[in-house]
Amino acid sequence: MTTELGLPSPRGGTSRDPARPADPRLVDGFGRVATDLRISLTDRCNLRCTYCMPAEGLDWMPRSEQLTDDELNRLIAVAVHDLGIEELRFTGGEPLLRRGLEEIFSAASALEPRPDISLTTNGIGLARRAEALAASGVNRLNVSMDTLRPERFARITRRDRLSDVIDGMAAAHAAGLSPVKINTVLLRGVNDDEAADLLEFALTHGYQLRFIEQMPLDAQHGWRRTEMITADEILARLEERFVLTPSDEDRGGAPAERFVVNGGPATVGVIASVTRPFCGACDRTRLTADGQVRTCLFATGETDLRAMLRGGATDAEIADVWRDAMWGKKAGHGIDDPGFLQPARPMSAIGG
Ligand code: 5AD
Ligand code: SF4
Repeated sequence: MTTELGLPSPRGGTSRDPARPADPRLVDGFGRVATDLRISLTDRCNLRCTYCMPAEGLDWMPRSEQLTDDELNRLIAVAVHDLGIEELRFTGGEPLLRRGLEEIFSAASALEPRPDISLTTNGIGLARRAEALAASGVNRLNVSMDTLRPERFARITRRDRLSDVIDGMAAAHAAGLSPVKINTVLLRGVNDDEAADLLEFALTHGYQLRFIEQMPLDAQHGWRRTEMITADEILARLEERFVLTPSDEDRGGAPAERFVVNGGPATVGVIASVTRPFCGACDRTRLTADGQVRTCLFATGETDLRAMLRGGATDAEIADVWRDAMWGKKAGHGIDDPGFLQPARPMSAIGG
């Protein structure tokens, strides 16, 4: 096991940081409590979104480094039983590429108290799997879709698969995985003129659309603050066609600011991670496919739970190291700070 600095821990996992309160939950030094665990099931993907990875893909994680199903199930059980995790969000890479994922969801949904289970997918292959996913305990799905135009989809993802994604959403909706949420990233000069069309599509089908500001998490380090489409621009584009009013619903730890569309009941969300960060209300902890805890997407350090699992640590020891890691969570991501450093791993390896 290593500390956040990557140094071997002198204590092992048995004693806790003396400054950390004796709270069994994942509390941090800024009064936040993490109840939402985001798990990356694999770093692999069958698309190649330009804002995420290069055309040739990345050097995927060797299988031996990935947590086995048993290891993952054990960490999930520790999170729910010992650390008060209430929500599990599975992501990737592309989570549907992980074999046997329905068994992971079934095991998670049998835990007490039963966690809420959701999945963020690119939608490829979803059409034939939606029923089985719903049966295995998945409650809700987010599908990534940035455009309604096949040629743009092929340009952004470097694969001509838009119809698979649209069919996948319909199947998820039919299987009761609702509300189906759509995640959209707008790119200047590529699809930034489609905001209103995408909202129209979502309203027609009963899906919930959320726009995500592009973040500096691509493997190629191509993100530019001056190039990204901001929340203000997204809202201005939408207001050319719709009347938006800020929703007065309590946002809690949810990253999306919600706006009621044309008087309701439909809403649209904007996740302004860069221009209006919501770190102060963050309730997340993250686990990578190779068993590293990350306190934030933008954390520069990780805590190695896989080494603990493989070294024979007890559940109580693992839980305590996870608590220590979260106690050290930083106040915010600092993307807008001059000294900001992009994390070493790209989003596809951290889990979006
Ligand atoms: N910035 C913002 N969103 C991103 N996603 C992937 N990479 C980025 C990025 N650099 C989105 C995906 C997916 C969600 C998990 O995050 O489109 O919908
Ligand atoms: Fe795959 Fe998601 Fe990255 Fe696109 S953004 S390449 S769908 S992991």
